[in-house]
Amino acid sequence: MRIGILGSGLMGGKLGTLFARAGHEVVFSYARTHEKLKNLAKDAGGTARAGKPREAADADALLVAVHWSRVDDVLSETGDLSGKVMLTCSLPMDAGHTGLLIGHSSSGAEELAKKAPKARVVCAFNTVPSEVFFGVYEARQNADRPSLVYCGDDAASKGIAAGLIGDVGFEPVDAGPLRIARYTEPFGLLMGQLAYEGNEGPELAYRFMRFGNEARHA
Ligand SMILES: NC(=O)c1ccc[n+]([C@@H]2O[C@H](COP(=O)([O-])OP(=O)(O)OC[C@H]3O[C@@H](n4cnc5c(N)ncnc54)[C@H](OP(=O)(O)O)[C@@H]3O)[C@@H](O)[C@H]2O)c1
Repeated sequence: MRIGILGSGLMGGKLGTLFARAGHEVVFSYARTHEKLKNLAKDAGGTARAGKPREAADADALLVAVHWSRVDDVLSETGDLSGKVMLTCSLPMDAGHTGLLIGHSSSGAEELAKKAPKARVVCAFNTVPSEVFFGVYEARQNADRPSLVYCGDDAASKGIAAGLIGDVGFEPVDAGPLRIARYTEPFGLLMGQLAYEGNEGPELAYRFMRFGNEARHA
């Protein structure tokens, strides 16, 4: 598939690289320097390339991986998103963009869907810290894959998301409609907190995911 990366930092850079290694045609976009995008594309290999958000948006699926304060800006650069499958891992922040936000009646993914009403938004990848991605990909042949939840309102888009989640080594777990993102996103906060404020973050993410597998198989 053609996959456009909107925001090529920790999340977008790593996931874009793994999508490319899994055989997809990836366009990295939206970093502060074009040089960085070109280096990412070179490291990712395959047909990966650097481009503008508008070029990245000409794809079968888009990954939104920007800081919440950049969401409006990146959307203004993509052009028409009608019918586009848009996976988002961006976590919502408060009005001053100083702290991550937990919403009881909404979520970042739902807010994004309002900002891009013609796109088909799926919430995915934000429940794990980016540090786990390469390790999970390396271990993708293992029978006991870590699970990763996703949610959305459009069945076809969710199918695409599930395929991509599987391609990078996780077992996709359908958590339901997009409004469920208000319950899954807080796990992203927890994992982020553990990853960046403690030493055990990525390790704890594995333990959490194994527990999920066991619980499901019980
Ligand atoms: N990192 C994680 O483990 C993690 C886990 C779960 C969810 N998330 C969420 O995922 C989203 C992305 O996180 P991240 O850690 O990948 O962020 P990041 O590393 O800061 O990457 C954000 C991307 O946006 C680009 N950017 C920032 N300001 C820009 C500007 N003014 N003009 C153009 N590009 C600009 C950055 O450019 P540069 O490349 O030049 O810096 C970078 O490519 C966030 O909402 C975060 O909360 C992250």
